[in-house]
Amino acid sequence: MGFNDADDAAVVRLDDGKLLLQTVDFFTPIVDDPYLFGQIAAANSLSDIYAMGGKPLFALNIAAFPINDLPKEMLTEILQGGADKAREAGIPIVGGHSIDDREPKYGLVVTGEVEEDQLVTNTKARPGDVLILTKPLGTGIIATAIKRGIASEESINAAVKTMVTLNDWAAKLMVKYGAHSATDITGFGLLGHLSEMCRASGVSAEVDFNKLQFITGAHKLAEEGIIPGGTKRNLDYVSEFTDFSENLTDTQRLMGADAQTSGGLLIALGQNKADDFISEYNSNSKLKAFSIGRVINQNDRLLYIRHI
Ligand code: CO
Ligand code: CO
Repeated sequence: MGFNDADDAAVVRLDDGKLLLQTVDFFTPIVDDPYLFGQIAAANSLSDIYAMGGKPLFALNIAAFPINDLPKEMLTEILQGGADKAREAGIPIVGGHSIDDREPKYGLVVTGEVEEDQLVTNTKARPGDVLILTKPLGTGIIATAIKRGIASEESINAAVKTMVTLNDWAAKLMVKYGAHSATDITGFGLLGHLSEMCRASGVSAEVDFNKLQFITGAHKLAEEGIIPGGTKRNLDYVSEFTDFSENLTDTQRLMGADAQTSGGLLIALGQNKADDFISEYNSNSKLKAFSIGRVINQNDRLLYIRHI
């Protein structure tokens, strides 16, 4: 597909009209439990295939681990978490590579496929489309609170539940409903990834801050200043081309820019399909999808964040 539009996975055309999708992602632990970390890292890696409307086929492990400093069982548990998540996605992990390293790291290389007419990119959002998000926000804030040992049990559980959830159902439904455009919300946060979609599609977007849903406890932690460095950098970056309502507090702006791990899909869907998508999605998912705003004609700014 080329490198211009910051899409989620590499796309390679095969002979039979099918497209091959390829993506890789790995990172350092964001929760204390190695088995859950493995699940989160795998769900996150698979997400870029789903974001393009694709189906994963198989994966490879990438792992780094301090062999001499931490019990080897920990690595086994990380890999078990990844293997179980891959099984849930219906794919095998067929190999991989690990190295000795000071800090543990884990993720997957994922190969997937998609029919050409089902490929969903971040380049085709149209004015009038409804913007839908399939997971709540705030995992960056909660992960920072976990690192500092101040996250509540309730927040940790809610963040883990969000991060281990596969975007497979969201992908399947967005293809069924003919989504115009999609991407997954990860390190650049909602506003960063939405701005990429707008830039690539030649449109702007209006987000209603009141409609954004956050994981339990994220607002309170953000008000206490528990903000990841990546989230602050995201806000600095998007501020250049974002119009925030004056009544949005600094904390609220940061929350909209929060760097996510294994976040939901952001989907631009024709207005007449949005309600049906949301009700069908929510009828079969522990996490609820919700609309956050709409795509508008290209304007002075890429993003308009409203707060009524
Ligand atoms: Co992505
Ligand atoms: Co990625």
